[in-house]
Amino acid sequence: MSTSGCLHTRATDAPEAGERKLVYIKTFGCQMNVYDSERMTEALVTEGYTETTVLEQADLVVLNTCHIRERAVDKVYSDLGRIRDVKHERQRAGKATTVAIAGCVAQAEGAEIARRVAAVDVVVGPQSYHLLPDLIGRSKTEGQIVATEFLDDDKFTALPARNRRASTAAFLTVQEGCDKFCTFCVVPYTRGAELSRPVAQILDEARKLAAGGVREMTLLGQNVNAFHGVDADGNEVSLAGLIKALALIPELERLRYTTSHPRDMRDDLIALHASEPKLMPNLHLPFQAGSDRILAAMNRKHTAADYLALVQRIRAVNPALALSTDIIVGFPGETEAEFEATLQMVRTVQFAQAYSFKYSARAGTPAATMDGQLPEAVKTERLHRLQALLAEESTRFNAGCVGKVFPVLFEKAGRRAGQLIGRSPYLQSVYADVDVRALGQILPVQISAAGPNSLAGVVCAPVV
Ligand code: 5AD
Ligand code: SF4
Repeated sequence: MSTSGCLHTRATDAPEAGERKLVYIKTFGCQMNVYDSERMTEALVTEGYTETTVLEQADLVVLNTCHIRERAVDKVYSDLGRIRDVKHERQRAGKATTVAIAGCVAQAEGAEIARRVAAVDVVVGPQSYHLLPDLIGRSKTEGQIVATEFLDDDKFTALPARNRRASTAAFLTVQEGCDKFCTFCVVPYTRGAELSRPVAQILDEARKLAAGGVREMTLLGQNVNAFHGVDADGNEVSLAGLIKALALIPELERLRYTTSHPRDMRDDLIALHASEPKLMPNLHLPFQAGSDRILAAMNRKHTAADYLALVQRIRAVNPALALSTDIIVGFPGETEAEFEATLQMVRTVQFAQAYSFKYSARAGTPAATMDGQLPEAVKTERLHRLQALLAEESTRFNAGCVGKVFPVLFEKAGRRAGQLIGRSPYLQSVYADVDVRALGQILPVQISAAGPNSLAGVVCAPVV
């Protein structure tokens, strides 16, 4: 097994002209992983690979993994069992298969994955995925390779320019890593310190995506509102400044950003929710827990009152803005009364949507060794109660949309023939019967029905 630092060689395994090698990429976890998988796929396509959705056909299998909660890691190892079997079957048929593990499990587990699963050829952390084609080539002669260093080179510059036909909506990473060190979270360890991409590089990528057909762009960062950069004149640019610059790209009709930390919601960003029509009226703002004692133990750097005051400031600027959030139940030492405070926060804020999780201890994080780890049954019971409340809240928010007319950006085919699925400004999925030519267009839709997770409606303008 070898570890990788700087790379000096090019891939030796790139397919010859005319030879068609297939790559199967499976993505776990967050939107940033979706973005990373897109960029890895583009790098591999440049090397002559073609994507397949059939694992058994793949010459190269890439798992882009998530380490945020235990279940995500378990899924990776169970998938690896199946991939190992496929690799052996293919071997018997005389076909080689390269297996690469990317993402945050790769970063956190490193050589341990390669030790546990002999079928793995390459382990590549999120900061090194631009090296993937070279690592694959090297693994042919050097055996298992682990590349998990935090490199100084800029992976975004090293990657090939965006080269695939973009879909209607796209992610664009503008910031990576986190310096907040919430005590439950692996991100500061797997993604490293906070880093903002250069403004010019982001604008360049956004223009290319827009020229390729992207109409809606979601700016990504683990702590996206901590983004800061400088423009071409050397002036400081905040996330609000970046969004203003992106809004000048004519083809881009909708902008969103995620995930924000309450401590970094600056006034200029809040104000933009009233002044910039391209900035969509939704905001993902995790609060994690409703009790101040738990928030302090989580090292969240805000109290429940701080969060509520922030929500008030945001709603004062734009009362129609829909809030979504992340919540953890069963943090070490959480009492029933402290859990009740979380439920109370949900009732007070009235979120349009929320992600809720049972606390899961992650090795190496401070909370993993705290006293008062709760039994699984207690966490499960609290999660069920919380999710029942959240379902009521999201159902109410969605029901309030019935009868309204929303501009909907149609993105993909629905389950039934003749049906398409689009996005409302509030990020709800909207189902409507409409001509397939509506894909990529924003059309007015009168909402006729609502469920906890989606809306249905009738298009009320001709498709051109
Ligand atoms: N256990 C449970 N949930 C977690 N999250 C992050 N780390 C953990 C953990 N150890 C949740 C947080 C975060 C979201 C992306 O995942 O709510 O905002
Ligand atoms: Fe993790 Fe978010 Fe806290 Fe950063 S702010 S440590 S990414 S939960």
